Amino acid sequence: MSIRKVTKAVFPVAGLGTRFLPATKSIPKEIMTLVDRPLIQYAIDEARAAGIEDFIFVTSRGKSALEDYFDAAPIIEAELKAKNKTDLLEVLHATDMESGAIAYVRQQKALGLGHAVWCARKLVGNEPFAVLLPDDVIAAERSCLAQMVDAYNEIGGNIVAAMEVAPAKTSSYGVLDVAEDMGSLVRVRGMVEKPKPGEAPSNLAVIGRYILQPAVMEHLHEKKLGAGGEIQLTDAIARETSKGLVHGFRFRGQRYDCGSKAGFLQATVAFGLARDDLREEFAAYLNDVHALQKAAQ
Ligand code: UTP
Repeated sequence: MSIRKVTKAVFPVAGLGTRFLPATKSIPKEIMTLVDRPLIQYAIDEARAAGIEDFIFVTSRGKSALEDYFDAAPIIEAELKAKNKTDLLEVLHATDMESGAIAYVRQQKALGLGHAVWCARKLVGNEPFAVLLPDDVIAAERSCLAQMVDAYNEIGGNIVAAMEVAPAKTSSYGVLDVAEDMGSLVRVRGMVEKPKPGEAPSNLAVIGRYILQPAVMEHLHEKKLGAGGEIQLTDAIARETSKGLVHGFRFRGQRYDCGSKAGFLQATVAFGLARDDLREEFAAYLNDVHALQKAAQ
């Protein structure tokens, strides 16, 4: 079996981000910052570490800040050069993207994640591709997508990132029906998007990283409506399970749901504490807060 290399990634960023209103009235969710880097930068870095060369953004009205973020910043650059601020210049250049490496398509209506991915079909072409949802931020020694590409290079097919969640939480996710559990990889025989409480086939939930085959685009082309009246990516992938072509992958790392306020705050604490330049001061502050809370109890 020859396995085709994954070099393209789709970033669906056309959602309305209503859980972060009022901020998302004017700021795309993906531009919100964990410490000092926007969510989208974490996803781009993860994809680059996995060997992705072409970055396809599915955007919508009001997301121009995202396009500007990946543009050159000549005024800031000139100012930093004039003041000889080499450290900050390095920070700035770490975000540089090769000309032509990023492409944008619009999703005119927020018809669901599956529809957003389908909007990228002409840019993806007849190739395997990755999908990364930037509001899932994953702290890992080796990038989550790179771990998935390693597994993909062994087994091919479609791979979805999966993690165990509490049974009470399964109704918020796509959930895997597991045919065979091989440890980090599980062979999938079905997938259910947002199962009703008590109806989840397992507690292994899909999170926002995928490696998919072109056949999934063909299924999306049928534009079938699923859970919540949206075109669901999970449903299109589930159609490949009967061919034995879908695996779940238990990645090594910590995933933060930055699409929710609580998850965003948790990620802010974790990434703040992970920074050498902030750890001491920030940890001392958190300890003080904790001590004050305990005293008040
Ligand atoms: P979410 O379910 O988090 O929706 O989408 P959302 O609109 O971003 O946020 P809330 O729920 O209103 O707060 C998960 C991912 O799928 C993308 C989003 O941009 C996000 O990256 N998405 C969702 C689209 O690109 N288009 C859609 O129609 C729906």
